[in-house]
Amino acid sequence: MKAAVYYENGGPEVLKYEDVPDPQLHPKGVIIEVQAIAIEGGDTLNRWRGPLMTNPHVVGYQAAGVIVEVGAEVEHLKVGQRVATVNNWGSHAALRSVPARNCWPVPDGFDIKKAAAIPVTFGTAHDCLFEFGRLKAGETVLVQAGASGVGVAAIQLAKRGGASLVLATASSDERLEKLKPLGLDQGINYKTHEVPKEVMRLTDNKGVNVVVDSVGGPTLQGSINSLAYRGRVSMVGAAGREPMVVDVGSMMGGNRSLSGVFLGAEIMTDRVHDNIQALIDDAAKGELDVVIDRVFPLSEAAAAHAYIESRAAVGRVVMVP
Ligand SMILES: NC(=O)c1ccc[n+]([C@@H]2O[C@H](COP(=O)([O-])OP(=O)(O)OC[C@H]3O[C@@H](n4cnc5c(N)ncnc54)[C@H](OP(=O)(O)O)[C@@H]3O)[C@@H](O)[C@H]2O)c1
Repeated sequence: MKAAVYYENGGPEVLKYEDVPDPQLHPKGVIIEVQAIAIEGGDTLNRWRGPLMTNPHVVGYQAAGVIVEVGAEVEHLKVGQRVATVNNWGSHAALRSVPARNCWPVPDGFDIKKAAAIPVTFGTAHDCLFEFGRLKAGETVLVQAGASGVGVAAIQLAKRGGASLVLATASSDERLEKLKPLGLDQGINYKTHEVPKEVMRLTDNKGVNVVVDSVGGPTLQGSINSLAYRGRVSMVGAAGREPMVVDVGSMMGGNRSLSGVFLGAEIMTDRVHDNIQALIDDAAKGELDVVIDRVFPLSEAAAAHAYIESRAAVGRVVMVP
C-alpha cells in the first residue's frame, strides 16, 4: 500500500510517500480502506519527537474509511461499513489495521472527512470541559489555542453546554474572527494582549470557571492565573513545545485545581466510546460544525504538516489517499 512514512524524527520534510507492506488483520480488529485522514496536533508532535514503533514509521491517530476485512472474533462490524477510527499510529496510509473497539460507525450521508476529524478532537474537548473541568451551565470558559482542532471543538461544546461566556486565545485577530460563528464571545490575541489580564477585564475581575489548555509551557501559568475562585484547568496538550513549569502555590489561595487529561487512557471505556459515537451522530445531524480548513492528497503529507506548522489552519487539516 501507499503511505506517508518517516525513518527519523524531524520537521515535515522527513515525511516520504512510499510503498510499504499492507497492515496485518488482528482477530479482534478490522482493516479499513482509508478515505480521510485527520491530522492531529499529536501527529505533528510524534513526527517531531515521538518513538518510531516501526521503521519506516506510519504516524497518525485518526482516519475514517470503509471496512474491507473483519477479524474472526469481531461480531458487530461488517465489510462495506463506513467507520471513523483511532489507533496509536498508522493513519497516514491507504489501509489501516485498528481494534474493533476503536471504530465508530459513520451515519449514511455524513461527510467521511468530517467523521475522521471527530473522535480524538471532540472527545478530548468534551472530557476537558465536562468530565474533568466539571463545567456547569452558566459558568465561564477560556479555551487556549481556540483555532486548534481541540479548540474549535471546545468552543462549540462549551456554548452548547450552556456556558455564559466563552473566551478563546489565538495568535492573530484574523484567526479569532473565524471562531465567532462557532460560539466564541470574545477573542484574546495573545501576541498583543496579556491573557490573564484580558480575562479579568472581560469577567469583571472574577476570572473563568474552566480553562481548556492544549498549549502548555508558559501558557499554562497564564491559564491558572485566569481562573476564578474554585476554577479548574484541564491541561491536555503541549502544542507550545516548551517545558511545563507552573507555580503550584498559585493554585492554593483561590482553591483552584489543575487536571491532566489524556483521552487515550479511557478511550476503551464505555463512557468515552459512547460519548464519541454521540458526538459523531450530533455532527451528522448538523448540531456540531467540524471545521476543515484544507484538504491535501496523502502524497503531499509533508506539505500538509508544514501547512499546519505555519499556524495558518483553523480547525482540522485532512488528507485523502
Ligand atoms: N491529552 C489528550 O488526550 C490529547 C488529545 C488531543 C490533543 N492533544 C494535544 O493537544 C495539543 C493540540 O492538539 P490539536 O490537535 O488541537 O492541535 P492543532 O490543531 O495542530 O493546533 C495547535 C495550535 O496550537 C497553537 N500553538 C501555540 N503555540 C504553538 C507552537 N509553538 N507551535 C504550534 N502551534 C502552537 C496554534 O494556534 P495559534 O497560532 O493561534 O496559537 C495551533 O493552531 C497537542 O499537543 C496534542 O498532542 C492531547
